[in-house]
Amino acid sequence: NGIWRHPCPMNMNVVTSSRSSCPINAVVLGEALASEESELVFPSKDFSGQAMVASLEKYLEMYKRSIEDPAGFWSDIASQFYWKEKWGKQVYSENLDVRKGDIKIEWFKGGITNICYNCLDRNVETGNGDKIAIYWEGNEPGSDGSLTYSQLLQKVCQLANYLKDVGVKKGDAVVVYLPMLMELPITMLACARIGAIHSVVFAGFSSESLAQRIMDCKPKAVITCNAVKRGPKVIYLKGIVDTALAESAKSGISIDVCLTYENQSAMMRGETKWQEGRDIWWQDVVPKYPTTCEVEWVDAEDPLFLLYTSGSTGKPKGVLHTTGGYMVYTATTFKYAFDYKPSDVYWCTADCGWITGHSYVTYGPMLNGATVIVFEGAPSYPDPGRCWDIVDKYKVTLFYTAPTLVRSLMRAGDEYVTRYSRKSLRVLGSVGEPINPSAWRWFFNVVGDSRCPISDTWWQTETGGFMITPLPGAWPQKPGSATFPFFGVQPAIVDEKGLKLEGECSGYLCVKSSWPGAFRTLYGDHERYETTYFKPFPGYYFSGDGCSRDKDGYYWLTGRVDDVINVRYHSYLPWAAYSKMKLSIWDFVFITNKFPVIRTCGSGHRIGTAEVESALVSHPQCSEAAVVGVEHEVKGQGIYAFVTLADGVPYSEELRKSLVVTVRKQIGAFAAPDKIHWAPGLPKTRSGKIMRRILRKIASRQLDELGDTSTLADPSVVDQLIALSDS
Ligand code: WTA
Repeated sequence: NGIWRHPCPMNMNVVTSSRSSCPINAVVLGEALASEESELVFPSKDFSGQAMVASLEKYLEMYKRSIEDPAGFWSDIASQFYWKEKWGKQVYSENLDVRKGDIKIEWFKGGITNICYNCLDRNVETGNGDKIAIYWEGNEPGSDGSLTYSQLLQKVCQLANYLKDVGVKKGDAVVVYLPMLMELPITMLACARIGAIHSVVFAGFSSESLAQRIMDCKPKAVITCNAVKRGPKVIYLKGIVDTALAESAKSGISIDVCLTYENQSAMMRGETKWQEGRDIWWQDVVPKYPTTCEVEWVDAEDPLFLLYTSGSTGKPKGVLHTTGGYMVYTATTFKYAFDYKPSDVYWCTADCGWITGHSYVTYGPMLNGATVIVFEGAPSYPDPGRCWDIVDKYKVTLFYTAPTLVRSLMRAGDEYVTRYSRKSLRVLGSVGEPINPSAWRWFFNVVGDSRCPISDTWWQTETGGFMITPLPGAWPQKPGSATFPFFGVQPAIVDEKGLKLEGECSGYLCVKSSWPGAFRTLYGDHERYETTYFKPFPGYYFSGDGCSRDKDGYYWLTGRVDDVINVRYHSYLPWAAYSKMKLSIWDFVFITNKFPVIRTCGSGHRIGTAEVESALVSHPQCSEAAVVGVEHEVKGQGIYAFVTLADGVPYSEELRKSLVVTVRKQIGAFAAPDKIHWAPGLPKTRSGKIMRRILRKIASRQLDELGDTSTLADPSVVDQLIALSDS
């Protein structure tokens, strides 16, 4: 059925030896082992025949140019967009080497453009005004809507006019706390249109996390909705915003405008608490504004958005992306990695609260004039067949999701998939964590009927767009490998001393030179930007990920090497589906937090262990906490917390729950620890540093791999912890 496998025609050596041992102190997701590396899955001749990049040779030719002549390569692409004024002589300038001074990345500086104009007006003007821009699918099957590019432009203009009217100007921040309604991309685009900087906060973050972000970026306005229904549960978002605004007011940050969309499918306005003067119903004001709005032309290097993400210390980092380079990069990566055609219908299951929703729900696809699905609900509600129901309903051709969803649907059973046609599907995509080969194969064989290539895209909030990704028609894939670098990306695997490794190797994944979509700074903290990303391995951008490269040059991501946990889960599976997945009741209780069905969280969460630790120690009965990531069957990584209680406080189930509640309250439900392990003491070096390496081994029950514990201040702590493992 279209798939052909044979020994690689490109002179690749098939690897059979086991991967060299990884020097990285990380939780490596099991399966991607030696035998897998030899498995090559070729795109069908039909697929390659129509693909934009149809062979490895073609890719290599383009890649070579992108590295040898980045300025020429990227300006040719950039010229396809509308620029009011062209960029200056220097297409880009960069310094990624801390030894040579401040880190600086600039692309297309001096070029004057607007990303909203390029997403909407440009498509309308080139005759695509009547093309569907967004199909919206609500939480309940049967609730839906759509907007053409012309209609979307009008809606964006109305909101942009309103925002201008209430005093939002170029360079002002706007915090957006919205679920996956059409109003979320509308808001992002409206901000971009007037040069305001949007900061979308995932509408699953707690009021405290929201307040923290508001206090950091001091927005001119906050945009939210009254409530959202996720699965069967109504979440009262406006209440969360009210608490956050009260909190930030205490620190002197008062917000004058809280524009609130009335989401009638979840809650009527009469039930919503209101602060006259500050709160305004979207529906009462926005539709009154003109449907055209002049564009605020901005420099390519003017900020486009801020997105907070977790780092290895407690405070979230405001990742700042600018306009021109991000525009060119997201559009180009989208086009090539999905082999985009104008007739495609594209669905990315991520929430716009995460980078995937920024780059690959809103900007990348719309810059290409694509038809995008915005899905409000949870992929397993009302049952685990919902995704394929949506695929058939809209004839989705490109489907982009996360391994966690693949794994959980896989466990729910093939019958939920095979009862739908899925004939429209062309390319599948994966992001968020390494996709384990068995999930890859299920995705490929069952969902894609062995017909659709899988683009396993490795990238980060910081990178703006795909960095290592298959081009689906160009080369054979290896299940579990993100394959090769995108145009312009020069990955470098380095050892712990920062020495670049060649050929087959394992180490820390870095990038050698800038690419247009790179983030430019951490908002208000350029020093932290340099320290976190550029100081660990001078001369390189350090991703925080471990990686190996096999003999054929394929890249295999192995997970974070810093104290960041990638908890990737969506949910809303009813308990019946969970029992099928053979998860324990323990998992069920922790994942659901005891709701009768499981809550959803979009598809990706990056959580800093320090954030969870600081939430735990804020509990009056907790004296110390250490959090590590452990392999988790569905979520990729689970959150495992070692907790030392204050003197004399006894362990109890109640206390365990109250610790979990504290984390939920402070960060959000998705950060709740999966396991709390009572710790009379923590393994520390004599200088007081917690040895997480040992904790990771205890958490994953690899007790024979504890390594040397003699340098601990008190080695007996380890035995005590092991003794309490199952308490
Ligand atoms: C992980 C999400 C392996 C990685 C776009 C990275 C992946 C972190 C992949 C960024 C992949 C993302 N294979 N690992 N295809 N994609 N990751 O900022 O650890 O939420 O550093 O961005 O996710 O997470 P973030």
